[in-house]
Amino acid sequence: MVDQFKALMVREDNGHFKSAVEYVPMIALPPNEVLIKVSYSSINYKDALSASGNRGVTRKFPHIPGIDAAGQVISSTVDRFGEGDQVLVTGYDLGMNTWGGFGEYIRVPADWIIKLPEGLSPFEAMCFGTAGLTAGLSVFNLVQSGIDKGKIAVSGATGGVGTIAVSILSKLGYEVVAISGKDEGNYLTEVLGASSFLARDAFIEKNDAKALSAAEFDGGIDTVGGNMLSAMLKSSKYNAAVTCCGNVAAAQFTTSIFPFILRGVKLIGIDSVEQSVDVKAEIWNLLARDWKPVRLKEMVEEISLEQVPNVLEILLKGKARGRFVVNHSL
Ligand SMILES: NC(=O)c1ccc[n+]([C@@H]2O[C@H](COP(=O)([O-])OP(=O)(O)OC[C@H]3O[C@@H](n4cnc5c(N)ncnc54)[C@H](OP(=O)(O)O)[C@@H]3O)[C@@H](O)[C@H]2O)c1
Repeated sequence: MVDQFKALMVREDNGHFKSAVEYVPMIALPPNEVLIKVSYSSINYKDALSASGNRGVTRKFPHIPGIDAAGQVISSTVDRFGEGDQVLVTGYDLGMNTWGGFGEYIRVPADWIIKLPEGLSPFEAMCFGTAGLTAGLSVFNLVQSGIDKGKIAVSGATGGVGTIAVSILSKLGYEVVAISGKDEGNYLTEVLGASSFLARDAFIEKNDAKALSAAEFDGGIDTVGGNMLSAMLKSSKYNAAVTCCGNVAAAQFTTSIFPFILRGVKLIGIDSVEQSVDVKAEIWNLLARDWKPVRLKEMVEEISLEQVPNVLEILLKGKARGRFVVNHSL
């Protein structure tokens, strides 16, 4: 057993937060049930918030972020996990106030861990990561609401949650309208399989004036909040459902009551973090098989731990495209 491991440590220095790769003693890991050697992690918007000192995400520094991890069990104090098991962990407190996947090792409670489903490698699990689980939960909730076909709007379409939502919906045969602030029409249609794309500002402007606009969409997956969520609700058809998971644009949004009482539109909140491990496992099984995007690997850039700070900056600026997988062997 090694006595230290490599990790991206975030330290606070006079109100500034700096990330650097360091060697950390194994004994500094928290005293939880299962020790995991992390082969891959991934980058999510929440990691960028943690590494930049957002106290709503991480209260205590120095800290190792990384809300996702996939790897192998090294040791366990509970019977249901044993040495060599291939596992993944997303959400709960991982990477928030419990050291996370930007370290080569994590030690976590057994209740946070899911055995890798058949058909999913550790690398693929992290191509999805929390973003993919959230996209999967969003699609799952639309299906549960009876939206099993039709025209679906997806916002933040080039982001982590957005790219995977677009590609799952396309694979399932929906007509997907990808809404993006970037000029990435080819990527959205060719790689992700969207039927068409709309410019973010034009979509918001078009749906700005009235309490209801033309009924266009059978469903929506909103990943950004604010005016985008308002616009999606206004342009929803009768009995449509819209899921909401993120606040990159804004945490507040305005709406009249009319989409709900005149069109029966449902607004569904999505939380992937505290979701029960059983529901998470159900979504991971779908992601491992029928819902796995055909071009998953093309939606992902593999990076080393040393490259993580740069990518976090790009994410904070809303400039990233697709997903980033952290490979601890690079
Ligand atoms: N509820 C949950 O369990 C859960 C889980 C995962 C993520 N989230 C949240 O979901 C959101 C998206 O996460 P992510 O991982 O997809 O993030 P991401 O990879 O950073 O993507 C966010 C995308 O939003 C769009 N965007 C950026 N700035 C914007 C702005 N000012 N106004 C409108 N759109 C903007 C951009 O896409 P375009 O350029 O294509 O428009 C960007 O690529 C975040 O708020 C995250 O915290 C929630």
